[in-house]
Amino acid sequence: MGILTSGGDAPGMNAAVRAAVRRGWELGLETMGIRRGYAGLIEGDIVPLTPRDVGGIIEYGGTFLHTARCPAFLTEEGRHKALETIEREGFEALIVIGGEGSLKGARWLAERGGKVVGIPASIDNDIEGTELAVGVDTAVNTVVWALNRIRDTALAHERVFLVEVMGRESGYIALMGGLAGGAEIVLVPEVEVSLEELAQRVSALYRKGKHHSIIVVAEGVTARLGSTGMIADFLRGRTGLEVRVTVLGHLQRGGSPTATDRILASRFGAQAAEDVKAGLFGHMVAWQRGEIVRVPLEKVNRKEVAIDLRLYELVHQLAI
Ligand code: F6P
Repeated sequence: MGILTSGGDAPGMNAAVRAAVRRGWELGLETMGIRRGYAGLIEGDIVPLTPRDVGGIIEYGGTFLHTARCPAFLTEEGRHKALETIEREGFEALIVIGGEGSLKGARWLAERGGKVVGIPASIDNDIEGTELAVGVDTAVNTVVWALNRIRDTALAHERVFLVEVMGRESGYIALMGGLAGGAEIVLVPEVEVSLEELAQRVSALYRKGKHHSIIVVAEGVTARLGSTGMIADFLRGRTGLEVRVTVLGHLQRGGSPTATDRILASRFGAQAAEDVKAGLFGHMVAWQRGEIVRVPLEKVNRKEVAIDLRLYELVHQLAI
């Protein structure tokens, strides 16, 4: 079987590859690692993987196979080249580890006869069909780590901090990071809040005796409200408070995966190898109600609403 990691890297991808290679080996499957995601599949950039080759990688973020966002794979020509590589290399199966876009690519291959199993991995947690994707827990913990530090300086200077986090159109990292990190306000794309309302809420917190506040801004809201810097300018103008901005950026994507991510990735990787051995294809292994399940690739879309709105309420109920 071939295995690749695709799209934005997510902590735990290495653990998933390790588990698939090792479980597959036990079941008599040989694994070839495809480097740089679909780009490597198109170009035939392939290395053999034995259990020893995946030793010592469970603790590392990133992906030792490398990854790529691959525009060529969005073209018919590129996709057909990928199919040709699968045939030429004699892959009897392909494991694709990545986010919603990468799993859409897997679906395309599956619809053309490719024997594919997907593993959801994306810090955004926006993949329909799985409650949790590999990498999410580490990213949320990184946000909490950052908020703890921001709070020290926010308290010291009695400032308002806007902390921008990743997530594309999903507010999951912002909400869960904000809830665990004790943020006063979270701004998520799933819930519309105007700049005016935001300023009123911040002023109300100060009237209640708060001397600082942390507002977690999901990057997805900036399309509607303007950049985080612009939101800060507005708040300064309306409230007269001192406002600072921190954009966490790609540091949310790196770092050693948490135990939760390592365990999830190991279970997904092993299950994917078992499915290959059993001849089960065309699905993504997924996490639902504490169990691993299989979700057909044609049902794998981007979640419309990636957050639990009750938890959104809870953040603000607790920020009194
Ligand atoms: O999908 C993962 C993600 O980290 C998003 O949260 C973010 O918007 C995007 O990737 C950034 O992509 P890139 O690393 O290509 O700039």
